[in-house]
Amino acid sequence: MASGGVKRALIFLGPPGAGKGTQAMQVARVQGVPHLSTGDMFRDHVGRGSELGLRAKPIMERGELVPDEIVLGMVEERVARPDCANGFVLDGFPRTIPQAQGLDALLGRRGFGKALVLHIAVEYEKLLRRLTGRRTCATCGEIYNIYARAPKVEGKCDKDGGELTQRKDDREEVIRERIAAYDRQTKPLIEYYRAQSGLVDIDGAADADAVTREVLVTLARL
Ligand code: AP5
Repeated sequence: MASGGVKRALIFLGPPGAGKGTQAMQVARVQGVPHLSTGDMFRDHVGRGSELGLRAKPIMERGELVPDEIVLGMVEERVARPDCANGFVLDGFPRTIPQAQGLDALLGRRGFGKALVLHIAVEYEKLLRRLTGRRTCATCGEIYNIYARAPKVEGKCDKDGGELTQRKDDREEVIRERIAAYDRQTKPLIEYYRAQSGLVDIDGAADADAVTREVLVTLARL
């Protein structure tokens, strides 16, 4: 994602269920840059049973955040790959002030300008229903919702017929801990990035397609 010749990273910030993944996937497709979801990276490690996955699994199942040094190392390795050379879309990272500071340093080292941050704001009452209704394609990662964005055939992905699965951390008690972790550790990033004058608020309460339109119009203006 280059803007005025400056290579850019775009960050989607917002509470669990705000629609970060849904929007990041669309924008990455439109802009032709990689979509980097730290949550997806951890789920991949857990699925493969890697050493990192074994460390992350119990933490994710409790709805807490994985330690910063693990996340930063994983992102640094991913961003170093050639497909990120012209920009990338971050979803679920950074999530703490040390992660944001680590990202600033990483972007500086790699010759990127300041990150653009889209903060998707949604009332907390909507999040529980969105998350308990979420289903994800096991093959391509497409995101559905049984209440708001149902697949044409129950349990099957519209794009490739893959099986739709429910995330283990989308249980009500874990969702409550994830939201509490967001309040404690991630919400301060809104002011951190606002002070860097790189944050734009997006109303995430509308339906997902309307939010995508607002995101794309906003990006075209920046
Ligand atoms: P992660 O996978 O990042 O989860 P999250 O931040 O909790 O966010 P979600 O993926 O739940 O929500 P989303 O905002 O992407 O919503 P989505 O678009 O899917 O992290 C999981 C765990 O990994 C963490 O708890 C932590 O342990 C660990 N982790 C990850 N990154 C980390 C980091 N940087 N540091 C430390 N630990 C980390 O949408 C949700 C549902 O709503 C879907 O069903 C969708 O169809 C629906 N929906 C979306 N938009 C709309 C809309 N506008 N209207 C109606 N429905 C909508």
